[in-house]
Amino acid sequence: MEEDQGGACETTDKFTMLKQLTRLQRWKYGRLLLLVICFILSGNLLFRGLTYQGIPSTTIQKEGGIRKESRLIESGSHDTGLVDDGEFAHAQTLAGAVFKQHAMSDELLTKVVVSVPHSFSPTTEQTVAKMFSDDLNENIYHGIAPAITWADDEIIVVQRLWLVQFEHSVYYKTEKQLRNTWHESYFYTQKFNKNYEPTTKGELMGIPVPSNSQFDYRSDGPMDPRLIWVNGTLYVSFHIWIWDDKDKASRGRMHLWNCQENSIKRLNVRDYDFLVVEINWAPLEINGSLYYIYTLDPFRVLKCEPSTGDCHFVVNDSPDNNRFEYNREHLRGGSPFLLYKWPYYIGMAHSVIVSQTPKENFGIYNTHLVIISVEPTFRIVYVSAQIQFKEKFLNQFPIARPYAQMRPFVFPVGIIFRNDDVIDVGAHLNDNSGYVIRLRGIRTLVRDAIALDKHHGRRSRPSPLVVNGYVRSRLKSANRDMTFKGEEFYKDLGH
Ligand SMILES: *[C@@H]1O[C@H](CO)[C@@H](O)[C@H](O)[C@H]1NC(C)=O
Ligand SMILES: *[C@@H]1O[C@H](CO)[C@@H](O)[C@H](O)[C@H]1NC(C)=O
Repeated sequence: MEEDQGGACETTDKFTMLKQLTRLQRWKYGRLLLLVICFILSGNLLFRGLTYQGIPSTTIQKEGGIRKESRLIESGSHDTGLVDDGEFAHAQTLAGAVFKQHAMSDELLTKVVVSVPHSFSPTTEQTVAKMFSDDLNENIYHGIAPAITWADDEIIVVQRLWLVQFEHSVYYKTEKQLRNTWHESYFYTQKFNKNYEPTTKGELMGIPVPSNSQFDYRSDGPMDPRLIWVNGTLYVSFHIWIWDDKDKASRGRMHLWNCQENSIKRLNVRDYDFLVVEINWAPLEINGSLYYIYTLDPFRVLKCEPSTGDCHFVVNDSPDNNRFEYNREHLRGGSPFLLYKWPYYIGMAHSVIVSQTPKENFGIYNTHLVIISVEPTFRIVYVSAQIQFKEKFLNQFPIARPYAQMRPFVFPVGIIFRNDDVIDVGAHLNDNSGYVIRLRGIRTLVRDAIALDKHHGRRSRPSPLVVNGYVRSRLKSANRDMTFKGEEFYKDLGH
């Protein structure tokens, strides 16, 4: 293993290190903390006492009575390579829906354990701080969005480095004028062994992107990486803001970086009008070809040619090319989808639901496990309810965007299998710091979901909004003191 100027030793005791922030960082986090404390004082009382209460039985359509409670998987039982599940272990019963033609078929309850085997922060932030010539101490670094993938016995990580002062200068009008300008985001990459000990030095990736410093909302640099192997070549899939001649404006557009050739392609869909920002496309490899789940519900799938960037829809349950409704489409892309057992793929998604009362326009973010099938019909098979995390973990760091998000959250972008029962998920906490989250207990979950799917004949997809309706009902029942935007879209579904 290569030495990393003390970086390697830091990771051996990472959670202690979290507390030993440099004076500078303490001041920076302190500033954020103050803002969050003010925010919590004003808002928290309203939400105190809310606990997870489960889905009301009236919103569940039961069929066949297959309702399984799987046994708790014993820690480490099937993976000689797993020495330590890390901290914040949280055993829970995870609910999830299996879908059939037009509708939801049944709910599964599975015992899983969530834990946190690795933190990329503050090592990432401390390492990159040494790379920037920032004598004025204007930069505030967040290492977020850790995409992860196996490369032989090693784990490749690509993280987004976010210089958050630019967002602050737009949203906190009191922020003093910044004198130097940088790209708002960079990619940072490093390799680790299977125990998340670094095997290479971390470095910034040289992906040239245009600067948006002439715009108020800068958001430039490569953002939100996903790693995907396609026919033996590793790609980083991500979006950047770049001039779009059709719109005569800067737009968020998806790109693919070929790690073998160091070349970039913009992803295009002929005769399709992209949104202002295209984001969170969830990649998967099928038989050596690249696909993206473009949206989960309505279910839309693209097939893309990496050498040209040309994509076309192979599934489009949205025949009117309808636009993305922010308050309706809760379930959104997170990690890539990995083949678990042909033709079933597993990935992590995130959800967003937007508050109406008692406070308006705050996004509540959650993490969900999703199973899809790619044959004989490309479709969603299973979506879990929101995964629960220990409060102590969620509150480790403040929310980076407290004007838009009112709850701590975990946002998934990476996924690897440790064995058939355990997945590791690269995720960030509160748009603030990067982690590996471990989910133990998926063997039983997938087995039961596949059994139900086969029972239903594996032919067709749930109707549009059925999947989002389930997610919405789960989010609502966990937040009974609140109301949410988008109710008009779900009136007829009985949620
Ligand atoms: C992928 O390959 C399998 C096995 O060769 C084949 O049965 C299947 O039809 C292919 N599926 C797709 C979506 O290309
Ligand atoms: C994958 O790569 C092999 C070897 O280069 C090639 O023969 C094959 O056509 C490729 N498959 C696809 C789906 O592109």
